[in-house]
Amino acid sequence: MTTLQAQTVPAHIHALDAHDPLRHKREEFVLPEGAIYLDGNSLGAMPRRVPARLSHVASQEWGQQLIRSWTAQTRDDPAEAAQDWMALPDRVAAKVARLIGAGPHEVAVGDSTSVNTFKALAAALSLAGERRVILTDADNFPTDLYMAQGLGTLTGDLELRRVPAADVAANLTSDVGVLLLTEVDYRTGRRLDMAALSEQARAQGILTVWDLAHSAGAFAVDLNGCRADFAVGCGYKFLNGGPGAPAFLFVAERHHAAAPVVLSGWMGHADPFEMARDYAPAPGARRFVVGTPQVLSLSALDTALDVFADVDLRDVREKSLSLGRTFMALMEPLLSRFPLTLVTPTAEVERGSQVSYRHPQAREVMAHLIAAGIIGDFRTPDILRFGLTPLYHSHADVWHAVQGIGAVLEARA
Ligand SMILES: Cc1ncc(COP(=O)(O)O)c(C=O)c1O
Repeated sequence: MTTLQAQTVPAHIHALDAHDPLRHKREEFVLPEGAIYLDGNSLGAMPRRVPARLSHVASQEWGQQLIRSWTAQTRDDPAEAAQDWMALPDRVAAKVARLIGAGPHEVAVGDSTSVNTFKALAAALSLAGERRVILTDADNFPTDLYMAQGLGTLTGDLELRRVPAADVAANLTSDVGVLLLTEVDYRTGRRLDMAALSEQARAQGILTVWDLAHSAGAFAVDLNGCRADFAVGCGYKFLNGGPGAPAFLFVAERHHAAAPVVLSGWMGHADPFEMARDYAPAPGARRFVVGTPQVLSLSALDTALDVFADVDLRDVREKSLSLGRTFMALMEPLLSRFPLTLVTPTAEVERGSQVSYRHPQAREVMAHLIAAGIIGDFRTPDILRFGLTPLYHSHADVWHAVQGIGAVLEARA
């Protein structure tokens, strides 16, 4: 890879980077030496400011303050109180809310995307009343399907109806209670029309649960603009919160009064330390926080999200599309020489922030690419997946990566 990076990048690629309004953001991340990391859609790179925060949390907040770090009760200064661990989920929720078109009180941060999918489905199905069908994309991310199946085991009366993504709109029938979709497909990178599908679902009285795992932080999501009902997403992909970072759950304000909290843990109680015998929900989406906040990982995510503070998500989207366009154009000559098939839509409205190809030996090819320092992902059965993260990728990275992909495929041939 060192030799690859030494190759001269063509002027037109340099020109794209020269006009990139986000080019300064790369300095805010730690990136691996001698490699091009194209897997931020699996695990985002670490923002440079995170280790200092973690160190402070460990040495001061945990090491010295101990239990006093939890609540405002021990603090006189309101600014300090806002830093309390108890407020951490809400503080992180407000930062996530800005990225997904939600109000801060509509987002809860904690648990995993899987668990939040369960919470959202349970609440949505309760609101759906007699309608016991969950409609979903047959190729939805497995955990979404599994959590729906698990909920079905509990209730005993659910039908999980799986149809190809292209047939979802035609299957929005009056017996469907909940539409469960992932906006950007984890294999192909195809982006669904969230606004149109939410609108069509609503017209049929169907509630929506959107999985934004590959959307949040990759482009501006407008949940309230789409009148989405529920949404979930990961903290460790484009939000760069670190391995196993807490996930988020969006519940539209109009559902707060009626949506039941099935996982009614004490940290979603209106006053946890009242130690009341009965559950009474906290205001807003905070009620969907279940147990003790994951302070170490929440702190990392909290600081990681600050990378977005001065970022216009329209620039992020523009750059993501430009990186994808460049990647596909540079890969084009390889498609006639090697058994590669582009599976990512070329239409920009249908693209997330990754580009994927089928290859009959995708697993081995990806192993070779990773050994050569081009870190993408293999996804069954035959997908080579390359994630594009506008905050830390340059067009030159894309160019180097494609040179490396060509060299690896050539060597194998
Ligand atoms: C679309 C999608 N949903 C959910 C998940 C899993 O989330 P978690 O591990 O936080 O439950 C992933 C993980 O890659 C994903 O891609």
